[in-house]
Amino acid sequence: MLVCLIVGARPNFMKIAPIDREFRKRGIETLLVHTGQHYDQNMSDVFFEDLNMKSPDVHLNVGSGSHATQTARIMIEFEKVCNDHDFAMVVVVGDVNSTIACTLVAKKLGILVTHVEAGLRSFDREMPEEINRILTDRISDLLLTPSIDGNENLKNEGVPENRVKFVGNIMIDSLYDALDRVKSENSNPAKKFGLNHYCVVTLHRPSNVDDEEKVVELVENLVHVSHKIPIVFPIHPRTRNNLKKFGKLPVLENEPLIHILEPLGYLEFVSLIGSSNLVITDSGGLQEETTSLGIPCLTLRENTERPITITEGTNQLITDVSTLQISVDDALQDLGVKEPKKPKYWDGKTAKRIVDAIIDCVER
Ligand code: UD1
Repeated sequence: MLVCLIVGARPNFMKIAPIDREFRKRGIETLLVHTGQHYDQNMSDVFFEDLNMKSPDVHLNVGSGSHATQTARIMIEFEKVCNDHDFAMVVVVGDVNSTIACTLVAKKLGILVTHVEAGLRSFDREMPEEINRILTDRISDLLLTPSIDGNENLKNEGVPENRVKFVGNIMIDSLYDALDRVKSENSNPAKKFGLNHYCVVTLHRPSNVDDEEKVVELVENLVHVSHKIPIVFPIHPRTRNNLKKFGKLPVLENEPLIHILEPLGYLEFVSLIGSSNLVITDSGGLQEETTSLGIPCLTLRENTERPITITEGTNQLITDVSTLQISVDDALQDLGVKEPKKPKYWDGKTAKRIVDAIIDCVER
């Protein structure tokens, strides 16, 4: 039995690492395919090291491009890989272009596909990820959900129940593993700025960083926040490019209480957020990680595909950036870290349930 595991973009690595380990522990062979959607050392290679992952068995090297170009390149290259192997299952995770591209290819060749992190919906089709999620779920054979709202969404879309299984949040497996390791290391990048009370900012969604007016407003607000609590801001390449384009990078760089960093590796990042007092983000994964760590999280988005981080966790949506200051004040009054939350099956044992479900599906 040969199982093909797909990674492409930064948020995929921490989801596939524990699944690969679990397969290999059980003596099941995996072929790890990296599409190359993300390719910079600090967006890709560093994660293989930090997550103790094997190097990709196959690298498709597709790189950046428009959605159509990137998706098409992945499809063309991945079809060759499928034709060269006899996969019992292709496993895709999350909602990036690599997820839908590889799913389409495998399904048209009649190969079984498992979607890990199935069923999440923002109900906002302007997000490229929402299109990727809906289409991937529509055609995959086994849909593994991280939280029970995923099962409800799929039921409402008419997906037969026997294709869906609630297995829990695979990212938490990697988070727990990393927390154990960073405890013994001095890997928190905030230390070099002498900070032990600080806010972490991450922003990369096109809806926040592609439009000049929005970027200007965001930068003004971040400067304001930094007067209340120092900010550490590892900048995604999309965001850096746009800040440069709109002439706003120097504004952030010259603020004494805003510390700009390049994108961080996984262990450094876990260490940074693990000791933070507040997070401001538009990331999907970080909404979950902050819930799991009990760190207040302000999410700069109109919606979230991860509502459980609001109902059971520490997340709050900021739909209008002009309300950010009030929410920061409230969060800081509360002062920081709360009891870590543990939605059901966010327990670090999700990889086992995933591999059980996949073996069961292949043998059925
Ligand atoms: C992609 C995912 C998004 C995910 C995010 C995490 C899709 C549709 N989007 O968005 O869901 O949250 O990854 O980071 O799949 N670039 C580099 N180096 C890299 C990769 C990208 O410099 O290693 C630059 C390129 O200029 C590129 C831009 O960043 O054009 C955006 O990258 P892209 O992969 O298109 O989208 P992300 O914004 O990263």
